[in-house]
Amino acid sequence: MPQTQDWVPPGVDITTPSIARVYDYVLGGSHNFAVDRATADTLKRIAPGLRRVARLNRAFMARAVRYQMAQGIRQFLDLGSGIPTVGNVHEIAQRIDPACRVVYLDRDPVAVAHSELMLEHTPGTGVVHADMREFELVLNSPAVRQLLDFTQPVGLLCMLVLHWLPDESKPAGLMREYREVLAPGSHLALTHATHDEQKQDLEDLGDAIRISRSADQVTPRSYEEILTMFGDFELVEPGLVGCADWRAEGPGDIADPSSNEYTYAGVARKR
Ligand SMILES: C[S@@+](CC[C@H](N)C(=O)[O-])C[C@H]1O[C@@H](n2cnc3c(N)ncnc32)[C@H](O)[C@@H]1O
Repeated sequence: MPQTQDWVPPGVDITTPSIARVYDYVLGGSHNFAVDRATADTLKRIAPGLRRVARLNRAFMARAVRYQMAQGIRQFLDLGSGIPTVGNVHEIAQRIDPACRVVYLDRDPVAVAHSELMLEHTPGTGVVHADMREFELVLNSPAVRQLLDFTQPVGLLCMLVLHWLPDESKPAGLMREYREVLAPGSHLALTHATHDEQKQDLEDLGDAIRISRSADQVTPRSYEEILTMFGDFELVEPGLVGCADWRAEGPGDIADPSSNEYTYAGVARKR
């Protein structure tokens, strides 16, 4: 019988992997179980650069938040925010302006429980436990209603989350709904898995995740498909590129070229 640690929210299934916990382990975190670690190890055997891919993503997210801050954004909605790790959005944003407001959202109970714990004494922050596909529920959640003002520009973040939505969920249509409620000057920043270059690896990663029986199943997409998520928002330079190619600032922002090929990253602005 698996032992349940005291940080585990009631009702959490620790017999099948959750992508939030697998990702936490890949990044070196400790909020994961044996089944998550075994899955992560299998994924790392297929793609040995997986930790670098995750780190490139986090580094991109930090730059994308700072970029949006420089454009005047002071409120963020982070969809699929994951288990808190180093460099969370409110830490980056509130270091620049303590008055920033940040709402985190995830459907994973461990991610939500740890976000709530982290934010207990942090003004201007909130957590929503929801599936991002429940658009109305998300917009009407207490944290979103109390903290975000949709008459002002918002920074919408979708970091490594949209590829967990299958095509049947119509992610491009969902993103249109999110984009439509944002005020002009708002930004959408996202990263998304792609099979454009690392086709075999992405197929093998998908197979391994299917075999793991995780509730989270991956749908990598092409450049063109990912581009549709931005709709008529204007992509800022350098466009939709590998994370390391998006305004890298230092050695921590870059890695070997192949690790940069697993995802696309971009930031776009509503006119
Ligand atoms: C790979 S993690 C990324 C975490 C963080 N955004 C980052 O980039 O570091 C993906 C997260 O998306 C969450 N997720 C997947 N599908 C979701 C959905 N439909 N609604 C809300 N969260 C979702 C997972 O639970 C997980 O925490």
